[in-house]
Amino acid sequence: MNSVISAPFSKLTRDQIQERVRALGDWFHNMDLNGVQTAPNHFLGDYPRIKWHGFAQAIPADLHGKSVLDIGCNAGFYSIEMKRRGAARVVGVDSDETYLAQARFAAEVCGMDIELRQLSVYDVGALGEKFDVVLFMGVLYHLRHPLLALDLIHEHVTRDLLVFQSMQRGSKEVEPLKENYHFWQTDIFNQPGFPKMHFIENKYAGDETNWWVPNRACSEAMLRSAGFDILTQPEPEVFICRHKELKSGSPVIPATANAQGRNNGVA
Ligand SMILES: C[S@@+](CC[C@H](N)C(=O)[O-])C[C@H]1O[C@@H](n2cnc3c(N)ncnc32)[C@H](O)[C@@H]1O
Repeated sequence: MNSVISAPFSKLTRDQIQERVRALGDWFHNMDLNGVQTAPNHFLGDYPRIKWHGFAQAIPADLHGKSVLDIGCNAGFYSIEMKRRGAARVVGVDSDETYLAQARFAAEVCGMDIELRQLSVYDVGALGEKFDVVLFMGVLYHLRHPLLALDLIHEHVTRDLLVFQSMQRGSKEVEPLKENYHFWQTDIFNQPGFPKMHFIENKYAGDETNWWVPNRACSEAMLRSAGFDILTQPEPEVFICRHKELKSGSPVIPATANAQGRNNGVA
């Protein structure tokens, strides 16, 4: 074990990498670290590579000179892909130090310079910086306060693009929304394409940190409401958005808002 720790990660043998991967616990990201798969039995298959293939073409292929923030970076699969596209700076944040340790190891084995910090999405204001591209993938439904998170991301860290992904359940239809509805117009709430958020009081998929699962219309409505224009939807769960200025009178979100839920929203 000592020999593993003392060797530079980029020079580790396959067996040494395998040993470190095992020691770093259960991986959610299946990554290929010099031939070693970190989560070969992932319940979603070769994840997140299969997800990435569905939207990789919708993100600028050349990120030279750009800064990227990966919120809920987990073991850093997307952070590394952003660096491979030439991003000048990639910052990955996650609330879970176990995943960050995996990300640190994966980045070193891949020879990628990625800044990793333990930080909750509710505290992104503490970064004091805006990023050209913000990834917010697979985190929203793990939060007790999802719209607050989107508001904070809009207010504090997004300069241009937001790449958003959420698990979605319910209808895939999207009902065109009117500006207003009369108090007695109740049928809209039964229309499948009306924005709906499903609250999980106990567990979903055995995970007590799954709190709120939107239908597609709700994902879109929340993104718009938080101040993002949806540019494309390259695959059903992924939305590529552009930051827009909100009209005056919109809620101002304090940078230090700290509204973490049970287990800190950990996956
Ligand atoms: C389902 S994984 C998604 C990982 C990665 N973004 C992806 O799309 O493959 C959710 C990640 O969000 C992180 N997470 C959960 N709550 C968080 C919070 N409040 N702030 C930051 N990260 C959080 C978890 O630790 C976990 O790494």
